[in-house]
Amino acid sequence: MLMGPDIPEINAQLDAGVLRITLHRPAKKNALTSPMYWRMAELIRAAGASSAVRAIRIGGAPDCFSSGNDVTTFTSLERDADGVPAPVHFLNALAHCELPVVAAVNGVAVGIGTTLLLHCDFVLAGEDALFRTPFVDLGLCPEAASSYTMPLRMGYIRAAQMLLLGETFNAQQALASGLVTAVYPVAEFEQRAGELALRLAALPPTSLRTTKRLLRAPLLAAIEHAMAAENAAFADCMAAPEFGEAIGAFLEKRAPDFSRF
Ligand code: COA
Repeated sequence: MLMGPDIPEINAQLDAGVLRITLHRPAKKNALTSPMYWRMAELIRAAGASSAVRAIRIGGAPDCFSSGNDVTTFTSLERDADGVPAPVHFLNALAHCELPVVAAVNGVAVGIGTTLLLHCDFVLAGEDALFRTPFVDLGLCPEAASSYTMPLRMGYIRAAQMLLLGETFNAQQALASGLVTAVYPVAEFEQRAGELALRLAALPPTSLRTTKRLLRAPLLAAIEHAMAAENAAFADCMAAPEFGEAIGAFLEKRAPDFSRF
């Protein structure tokens, strides 16, 4: 079932009907690259097509979920023959997945590290989890349909804090906002995520898939619409000098200066 070759940055393990996907790029705080997106998309699609998989669990390191897209690769992301970039493949696979998806998050969840959670059914956080979507700080704009899913899930006021100001939400704020399902002590959150995934895997599989499909059906057209609009806007942002300043500042480890724009 687990098609394609493993890559060191993505660990995949199938156990008792649960596909566990673990990000493993510790030197870069689990920053995501094209090969990581391709692999996760492939795993999620293959899991959805297999009767052996009943639930998916996504996690990072116990002290770091993901620092988001690798900042150095925004302009060199791999694309398929139709020009669709690797992150969009991953997000489409996740958004259309009929299996229940549980995310286990502690430490930083930045950018797509947070927005991917908006496509998960359950998000269990450790109490040291921090969520941040600094797209504007980088001269960019929302992605992953978060311009739609974040206000939908968290309310416009909180989405504006996260998407316009790039404010960091801690685990309790994320819980109060509806971004996460539950918060546990750091020593417990992964075990709790494992238990929840096993609980899901024991439920009647067709009923579970049908229920998730029905829950998400009204959202999918709007998600696709938002993602298409965001992808076009994101490309425009990347071509603009504000993004150049933001990336230059990141690489030079200095504060960006947007005063001339
Ligand atoms: N892309 C590429 N490299 C990244 C990265 C990212 N998203 N996030 C972290 N790294 C790299 C750092 O450059 C550093 O590399 P180096 O050791 O070669 O200098 C290494 O990972 C460790 O990061 P560091 O900043 O030292 O760790 P930290 O614990 O102090 O801070 C973060 C962690 C995630 C808060 C911080 O690295 C950060 O803000 N990263 C950028 C996040 C971001 O803007 N993502 C894109 C969102 S759209």
